[in-house]
Amino acid sequence: MAANSDIAFKRLPVKIIGTGSYVPERRLTNADLEKMVDTSHEWIIERTGIVERRIAAPDEYTSHMGTKAAQRALESCGLKPEDIDLIIVATITPDTFTPSTSCYIQDALGAKNAAAFDISAACSGFLFAMKTAVQYIGTGQMKTALIIAAEKLSTVVNWEDRSTCVLFGDGAGAAVLQASTGEEGEGSVLATDIGSDGSLHDLLQIPGGGSRCPTTAENAHERLATLAMRGNETFRHAVTRMKASAASVIERAGLTADDIQLIIPHQANLRIINAVAQRLSIPEDKVFVNIEKYGNTSAAAVAIAFDEARRSGRFGKGDNVVLVTFGAGLTWSAAVIRW
Ligand code: UT7
Repeated sequence: MAANSDIAFKRLPVKIIGTGSYVPERRLTNADLEKMVDTSHEWIIERTGIVERRIAAPDEYTSHMGTKAAQRALESCGLKPEDIDLIIVATITPDTFTPSTSCYIQDALGAKNAAAFDISAACSGFLFAMKTAVQYIGTGQMKTALIIAAEKLSTVVNWEDRSTCVLFGDGAGAAVLQASTGEEGEGSVLATDIGSDGSLHDLLQIPGGGSRCPTTAENAHERLATLAMRGNETFRHAVTRMKASAASVIERAGLTADDIQLIIPHQANLRIINAVAQRLSIPEDKVFVNIEKYGNTSAAAVAIAFDEARRSGRFGKGDNVVLVTFGAGLTWSAAVIRW
């Protein structure tokens, strides 16, 4: 039995009962970036599809954004913070190294009955959190889980590096999961997949600021605690891994591409999104894209997109929705949800 299998043992079906998202007010447009680095609106839109991204205020932290997204998710399903047993936060830009961002959010929400921890799987984090929550709930260990992906990437971007600074933005998304009471019903998570290839850790990383290379007075000018990416190679792996991960969950859910009403991919690059959809034989009108508004918000991207797609009616009761992500690690993940 494969490690990723959803049918290794009998478990309770798990459903998503609420979603929420939040993005900060400030917009940073391509025109603004033209004044900061040697770039152009034409290059950014043609190579990535991004028009603008949101930037959090200096005193607005990852936990603040995550809390707002979580509150909206709870409102959407009518639950109170005390109803939550488990909070999992996916982030690469925690408020502090310790305690975890999930603990700040637990406090801000007043979710005093919840165990709270963070996971680090970069842009794939939201679906790693989803799979983790599905296991806790599916095995009967927890009843209600709140998963949150929140990022303040503006604090880890090198604003002098045009090859990365045009790509990223800030924001947060959240979802509430519970055991399904009867047969697989609305919002059921039908299949999930997660994977990693640590041998490619150097394609996309924040090399400094951790125990491997702490920031010191001597190296501070090198900006090692900022995002560095080998874009071309990362692009190729993103297409291959996202296609394979999405295909595996579609198959394990007993579906084909024709049964999918909407695919919501990680929003890193419009060309990656289109290439993945094409390789899965999913037509453009079934692909959710909001990269033009927010850029790449890492773990938060697919969570924000999922909430926006739900609220705008892009999918409805009985629809099969595929979420698929890819990020640093390398990591990748996918899920099929029957709404
Ligand atoms: O979220 C996690 C996963 N992330 C991804 O999957 C991202 C994957 N990578 C990408 O999306 C793309 O590789 C990028 C958008 C990052 C870059 O696009 P590209 O088409 O791969 O461009 P490139 O890196 O091959 O650069 C092409 C040219 C270079 O100039 P020369 O050497 O051909 O003269 C760059 O210097 O574009 C230049 N360039 C820029 N020009 C204007 C790079 N960045 C910029 C810029 N503005 N911002």
